[in-house]
Amino acid sequence: MQIEKIFIASDHAGFDAKQIAKKTLNQMNFEVIDLGTNDSQKSVDYPDFAYALSKEIAKDEKNYGILICGTGIGISIAANRNPKIRCALCHDALTAKLAREHNDANILAFGGRILGSAEIESIIKIFFNTEFLGGRHARRIAKLGEIK
Ligand code: RB5
Repeated sequence: MQIEKIFIASDHAGFDAKQIAKKTLNQMNFEVIDLGTNDSQKSVDYPDFAYALSKEIAKDEKNYGILICGTGIGISIAANRNPKIRCALCHDALTAKLAREHNDANILAFGGRILGSAEIESIIKIFFNTEFLGGRHARRIAKLGEIK
């Protein structure tokens, strides 16, 4: 997995988890570009953050991202509207591993109101240390661009 830049963004419900995620990424020696939001008090709209981050990831296949809202559902739905994005909503180590191995996910999404700090740390470590398996999975990913 060749990583050029890692972007991170959340809404207010994901802000506290974003702080944990940034600490984990820094411990892994990644430089992180934080696109907001900047506190947990002011209510904001998750599509705004999903779109801003997706735009950056779509610019370079070596760019990756993390998106967090309360459940991870809204923000992952919004990100996946960009055709270059494969945003995976993950709940645990297994979904994070398979999101990379089978789906070549370029954005990891999770719920800040769903996961605790140990789970957040665990899914981030696995996601950014797992390679895409290619083969039959590459054929399936190519079909994602052929929506009928
Ligand atoms: C915000 O209250 C909440 O709806 C949002 O963070 C997210 O969980 C939506 O999917």
